[in-house]
Amino acid sequence: YVIGIDLGTSSVKTMLVDKLGNVVHEASENYPLFHEKSGWCEQRPEDWVTGTVTSLQKLLSGSKVSAEDIEGISFSGQMHGLVLLDANHKVLRNAILWNDTRTTAQCRSIEEALGTKLLGIAKNAALEGFTLPKLLWVKEFEPEVYAKAEVFLLPKDYLRYRMTGHIAQEYSDAAGTLLLDMIGKQWSTEICQAVGIEERICPPIVESHACVGNVTAEFAAQSGLTVNTKVFAGGADNACGAIGSGILSEGRTLCSVGTSGVILAYEENKELDVAGKVHFFNHAKQDAFYAMGVTLAAGYSLQWFHDTFCKELSFPDMLGGLEAAGVGAKGLLFTPYLVGERTPHPDADIRGAFIGMDGSHTRDHFARAVVEGITFSLRESLEILRAAGKTIPSIISIGGGAKNETWLQIQADVFQVEVVRLESEQGPGMGAAMLAAYGCGWFQSLEACADVFLKPAQTYQPISANVEKYNELYRLYQQVYH
Ligand code: XUL
Repeated sequence: YVIGIDLGTSSVKTMLVDKLGNVVHEASENYPLFHEKSGWCEQRPEDWVTGTVTSLQKLLSGSKVSAEDIEGISFSGQMHGLVLLDANHKVLRNAILWNDTRTTAQCRSIEEALGTKLLGIAKNAALEGFTLPKLLWVKEFEPEVYAKAEVFLLPKDYLRYRMTGHIAQEYSDAAGTLLLDMIGKQWSTEICQAVGIEERICPPIVESHACVGNVTAEFAAQSGLTVNTKVFAGGADNACGAIGSGILSEGRTLCSVGTSGVILAYEENKELDVAGKVHFFNHAKQDAFYAMGVTLAAGYSLQWFHDTFCKELSFPDMLGGLEAAGVGAKGLLFTPYLVGERTPHPDADIRGAFIGMDGSHTRDHFARAVVEGITFSLRESLEILRAAGKTIPSIISIGGGAKNETWLQIQADVFQVEVVRLESEQGPGMGAAMLAAYGCGWFQSLEACADVFLKPAQTYQPISANVEKYNELYRLYQQVYH
């Protein structure tokens, strides 16, 4: 067996997977977010560790599998979050997360310091969510904290450190820091020097399927694991979502709705030029890449809607009236800019809207408008990828968007392409498990693992009458931002 750990924004999920890719058991634990000021979003790294320990205890006690039979563990992690450690590897402050938008000024200073070189080396524009602007923010506003920093890690890398005692990052997450020479696969001395970050705080980088060490005796005692289990580096959640959906060759494209939402296309050509309009990152498959647009508040918009207006309902019940609300939610339009936006509008200050409310709208129309607004936002990313020359014959849908039949059809109609749902879709956690399975030597390649582990289930074809209506609404949607 292997275990995939998905260290997400709202919870950590652990899953136990057998040699055929069956999920034998799952467990999860939630942890809080802290919003001290508008636009700020932090978490306590210790909460990730205790949440993972509890989740692993539940996973092991809830299955009949002996811990001795668990060969490997790997990770999928929320991207970009800054974890700063001192010389004793103690956490110096709360982690600043990917959806924290306090760093607009630091992004402008990165642009000033590097100009077009940034796109040349890091292949991405300076955006608030990325790690480097967060480092610069701490350096400027908490100089006493920064002075004590020995090393910085990303969320799952910290968890892996606590599990193994070894400090490391891997390429797919390092790519999201804005400090990596993405093609040369090393920390960029040029970027570090230009912005005034000491390269010594950047840790060693390994491949995602590399074994970083074994579970320590201390972590084994806490969690119920044994010291014989090997721990593999893992990947960024979007890279792992891609692996767990078989996005391992040209033309494969993913729509994933977690707290954020992404449209992600596999890429082998390291020269692909998306001009910083979408992100371009190293894949967790060695020497491959992906291009991706991000909607900051995708699942988060629905979570907000749920918590604010219908807390008493389960998610399936809240979405139970989607179909009846009809295409276009009877003229109600939603823009999902609850925490600002990334793609296609890198704008930390924009906020969301409901437009076109009338007295006949019910809660179901609002729920449908939220779902449609998220999907329109994702289409904007898809259009950028199409404009960059990507051929997209179909899209694999995972996460929240794949849990509801009506939403899957909405995706096919709005994206104007076939949408595929996988059988027992597990997303990033499955990608993490696959990295462990590959790392353990169960398979010759991730592709061979995907052939055994992943099975397509249903497909959804665009319905032309809906496509027409959505085209009209999409044009309206696009005007709202401006
Ligand atoms: C990607 C991004 C989000 C997080 C969510 O750039 O910021 O998708 O990875 O965990």
